[in-house]
Amino acid sequence: MTLKKGKLKSLIFSCFKAAETPPPENDSSEKVSRPFSFRRIVSLSDVSDLSSVDDISSSFLGSNLHVFTYAELSLITHNFSWNNFIGQGGFGPVYKGFVDDKLKPGLKAQPVAVKALDLDGLQGHQEWLAEIFFLGQLRHRHLVKLIGYCCEEENRLLVYEYMARGSLESQLFRKYSVPLPWSTRMKIALGAAKGLAFLHEGDKPVIFRDFKTSNILLDPDYTAKLSDFGLAKDGPEGEDTHVTTRIMGTQGYAAPEYIMTGHLTTMSDVYSFGVVLLELLTGKRSMDSSRSGRVQCLVEWARPLLKDPRKLCKLVDPKLEGQYSMSGAQKVAALASQCLSHYPKPRPNMVDVVKTLESLQGFDDVFSGPLVYIAPDEKDSGVDNKKENRRGRGGRCWRHRSKLPLSSVANSDYPWY
Ligand SMILES: Nc1ncnc2c1ncn2[C@@H]1O[C@H](COP(=O)(O)OP(=O)(O)O)[C@@H](O)[C@H]1O
Ligand SMILES: [Mg+2]
Repeated sequence: MTLKKGKLKSLIFSCFKAAETPPPENDSSEKVSRPFSFRRIVSLSDVSDLSSVDDISSSFLGSNLHVFTYAELSLITHNFSWNNFIGQGGFGPVYKGFVDDKLKPGLKAQPVAVKALDLDGLQGHQEWLAEIFFLGQLRHRHLVKLIGYCCEEENRLLVYEYMARGSLESQLFRKYSVPLPWSTRMKIALGAAKGLAFLHEGDKPVIFRDFKTSNILLDPDYTAKLSDFGLAKDGPEGEDTHVTTRIMGTQGYAAPEYIMTGHLTTMSDVYSFGVVLLELLTGKRSMDSSRSGRVQCLVEWARPLLKDPRKLCKLVDPKLEGQYSMSGAQKVAALASQCLSHYPKPRPNMVDVVKTLESLQGFDDVFSGPLVYIAPDEKDSGVDNKKENRRGRGGRCWRHRSKLPLSSVANSDYPWY
């Protein structure tokens, strides 16, 4: 059945009226089981013919969002200047801007990120609409907040809250800087897992489809938020076990069954989550063409090591220089291994992933490498006895050895370094 546009618009509007009001952001923020009381009734495919600003702003999609003109966005980004450029993905370039409190009624002064469609690129109106469709309705502490959009002639832009630490990709893989500590990696993994669990556990599940480090953004205190809903899909409905789609996503992250069949389920996201977890554990990229043969693909390289707890030290990021929780790393390796199961059935759901990661929070960045005996001095007599990692048996005092040079750390013989 095809619906005429006018009829569709009124249907969408009445659906919105009938739906419950979304809960205040803070209320829903940390819950993962049945966290989403706002019932989405229409699907993305129902709205795909909304093409003008009028269509969108008069439907429920626009109700949470500000409509910007191209001139306004040009002004706040200094004419989309290179100095304001902060990132780029398949949709197009992203610029930092600043809105003052006079620009739009009800919009407070704040920095924003403006994503502009690359008119020569492969993405277009559908991906732009998907972001508005999902992020216009879904609000959660671990999803980036969409503030508004612009649709003028062929221009399509999106305006988000600005995430000061950029993407996990830039934080995890940047060279010549202090590596992300273990506890921060665990905090990021938990935040991102909560974002995915929220999507999967709603009344109408959403499959993110492009879960990867460049789509996880970080705020100043490393709270992770999922961004980039351009490829997101409504999950299967009723008796259906999967949705069948064109195979899209990112090499190195996509689940094997999705690549083989085009069948998409929430378990495809769980596989991609496993890849990101592996990247956090190892500090290595999911795909790296500078590596040779099978080693180019992180999952292929890591699989045999994940199965053997004695090989853990070969997996863990040498840049951590031993500063991690050994038992935490073992659990992360086991969890990643489950998420990366070749078949979807044995993979855990995201609510279980959240539970496991919750138990791994708050570990200090414990030194797990070689220990050196240091004779106690007077000052040490007051040191907290509970700090098991600092104390050997029999009351002797063990201290971290001064940091090892990278070249002498286990793993440095691997082709990544
Ligand atoms: N809200 C934001 N705050 C800060 N940086 C952002 C923001 N949104 C995007 N970016 C940067 O731009 C990059 C591309 O953004 P993304 O939304 O993934 O675009 P695409 O849809 O083109 O992949 C991100 O990896 C990040 O570095
Ligand atoms: Mg992206």
